[in-house]
Amino acid sequence: MGFPEIRLRRLRANGSIRAMVQETRLSVDNLIMPLFVCEGTGVKSPVGSMPGVNRFSVDLLVEECRQLEQLGIRSVLLFGIPDVKGDHVGYDDNGIVQRAVRAIKATIGKLFVITDVCNCEYSEHGHCGIVVSGDVDNDLSLELLSKQALSHANAGSDMIAPSDMMDGRIGVIRKVLDTNGFSNIPVMSYAAKYASAFYGPFRDAADCAPQFGDRKTYQMNPANVREALREVELDISEGADVVMVKPALSYLDVIHQVKQNFNVPVAAYNVSGEYSMIKAAAANGWINENSVMMEMLLSIKRAGADMIITYFAAQAAALLTKGER
Ligand code: PBG
Repeated sequence: MGFPEIRLRRLRANGSIRAMVQETRLSVDNLIMPLFVCEGTGVKSPVGSMPGVNRFSVDLLVEECRQLEQLGIRSVLLFGIPDVKGDHVGYDDNGIVQRAVRAIKATIGKLFVITDVCNCEYSEHGHCGIVVSGDVDNDLSLELLSKQALSHANAGSDMIAPSDMMDGRIGVIRKVLDTNGFSNIPVMSYAAKYASAFYGPFRDAADCAPQFGDRKTYQMNPANVREALREVELDISEGADVVMVKPALSYLDVIHQVKQNFNVPVAAYNVSGEYSMIKAAAANGWINENSVMMEMLLSIKRAGADMIITYFAAQAAALLTKGER
């Protein structure tokens, strides 16, 4: 049977029937808000390339988290921006992220705090590991990353999210957590993280652009998807609890394949460039910001993401609680 007996428009005739047959639904439960924390007090400084995104000092970060929690957001992902940089700065127990985690957990205990583990925001060279004679040394970097992960766990982080793309880091981080009494803390691996130009605005926000070269020796080639499956498989075998694909929009096929091939929750990072493009087009009156935002987030979910890290989390949550989707 085909047309005219079969007419797919019957199930699109009105809002009620459309809602009943809707296959994918975005929920505020899926959203994770990334936040940038900097030194000082009373600081709320706008990120020029990301309209609506700010860097907060710890005191105002806590206020921001309170508002996010009231919107129904369950989780935040923290990035630290220290005043003084150096390879040891990221694992200072009194560092910027460590203080931020303690402050949030002390006031809003229910908010699930994820911490980004990487060296690029903390080092002078801006690379994600330790640099030895002009190159990132994988195995030396592992020790630094595991120290950073442990100091985040000590501060009260609910989940550790390494974004550096060194080989073997999930295994060493899992081990350091387990041997120090943190066997209950999950690891969300940035498993398939691509060397992407969509990170441009973030590097402005987190002040972490590499001072020489690029990240192509550790982040993935955008042309590859089978390699992404190998990355994910290895990270799961090393103990990753959640695997991430990043960026999201140009990589929906990767999200889909990871979801089809593995049985762990999949996260997708809707990165800075994806955010800023929408903000810029909307500011010009070229697109409807809220509609495009919701369509984009829904399609990331439809591709297979269980969790979506997005700078739009608060804006989307406000719409979701009003019943729009
Ligand atoms: C650092 C890191 C980056 C992002 C998250 N963690 C930048 C990079 O790898 O260059 C990008 C996030 C975004 O663009 O929103 N390891």
